[in-house]
Amino acid sequence: MTRNVEAFDRWIRSDFVAMNTELEELYFAREDRSAVDGIGDAIKQRLCDEGRLLIAPLRAEGRTNDGFETAFHLLGNVGLYMGALRRHELTHPDREEQSPHREASALALHVGAAAGMAPRFATAHLATHNLAVDGVRKSFTALPDEFLFIDENCRAILSFQSAADALRRLVALGVSSPVADVLFDQALTALEAVSRINRRLFDTLDVDRFFYSVRPYYKPYRVGRQVYRGANAGDFSGINEIDLILGLCSARDPYYAQLLLEKMPFMMPGDQARLRDCMATPTMLDAFLSAMADQADAPWFRTNAAAFLTLCDAFGQTARDHHDLLVARFITRPAAGVNAQALSSITASGPPLEVLLRSLERLRDYRCAAPRPDLPTRHDDLERLRRAIGMS
Ligand code: HEM
Repeated sequence: MTRNVEAFDRWIRSDFVAMNTELEELYFAREDRSAVDGIGDAIKQRLCDEGRLLIAPLRAEGRTNDGFETAFHLLGNVGLYMGALRRHELTHPDREEQSPHREASALALHVGAAAGMAPRFATAHLATHNLAVDGVRKSFTALPDEFLFIDENCRAILSFQSAADALRRLVALGVSSPVADVLFDQALTALEAVSRINRRLFDTLDVDRFFYSVRPYYKPYRVGRQVYRGANAGDFSGINEIDLILGLCSARDPYYAQLLLEKMPFMMPGDQARLRDCMATPTMLDAFLSAMADQADAPWFRTNAAAFLTLCDAFGQTARDHHDLLVARFITRPAAGVNAQALSSITASGPPLEVLLRSLERLRDYRCAAPRPDLPTRHDDLERLRRAIGMS
């Protein structure tokens, strides 16, 4: 790490956080919490200038040959800075053809290309690869609700990853393996942990603080000429590895394949590779269905199919938690109370809210194998399997 890289990292972990927190308190104290124009202008200017001064030498240094780690962390820091500029309306993709923050854009594009990722901060920067120093991880603000949100997101991601790891190991053993119980149990424990975390977020996160002071840092913004969508807790491969290995979603389904392709650049390169690998893996549901004709009464079939179905139910539950609890409470309901202008940039992924909600609902229904004649869910196949072992 060069001295310039260190200086920028120190600033991101200290003054940057203090300025964002101060601005959030000013916005939150106002009657219209979503109107940030003309509030705290001196602080906004300081944030913009101090960041630019630290970025200029980094850009001039142009060192991307210090390895992936340096490029990745630098990408996160410049991305947090640009995310904050967007949040404070110091840039807005709709009123510009290219980002007015030229040096930050140039650095982000350079390190993004070097790291093999989109040139903006990604979920991994604030979650699975958010390096803590003296017990403190990176964040935009020091608001307790932001800490709660990023920590619980990270815990849920780590749990999904454990479930995916167990399932990948099970692929190597096959669904008829006598030792499948260990891996089905590990995956189940991990998914039950996700549901507990979802429930905790639902119970403890403050709706207004999340909606007005945390979520706005996840808006899309321009880097150079192009707009890049915001990060979301889903930008890791684990959940899709589970989708594909269980067989609840298919990469042959153009809707789902498009979704995978779209999210790839927002993932760590290692996750991108794991996801590509899973796309070619035969699914467990298909393996059970093809064994059903002559093995339905075999003890291994009854035991392992029951464990598989229980796991699918637990996975479906996490999808229902996400959509019916978290999205409903923290996005859909508060969105009903804001004006059209504030609403237009509420979703981190960019599309209008009702389009986004439909697409999240569709994913929920794939994962729950819901009876949806309009979608290729695996409802009927799971029912056949349940009937075969008397679980329906
Ligand atoms: C307050 C809590 C949360 C809210 C309000 C929320 C909301 C959202 C929204 C609105 C999206 C759509 C993309 C976007 O506009 O950002 C999304 C995507 C996603 N979120 Fe969350 N989320 C929350 C917590 C979590 C947690 C804890 C996880 C677990 C890892 C998670 C996993 C995902 C996934 C996987 C996606 C991508 C779509 C999918 O594959 O289902 N979210 N979330």
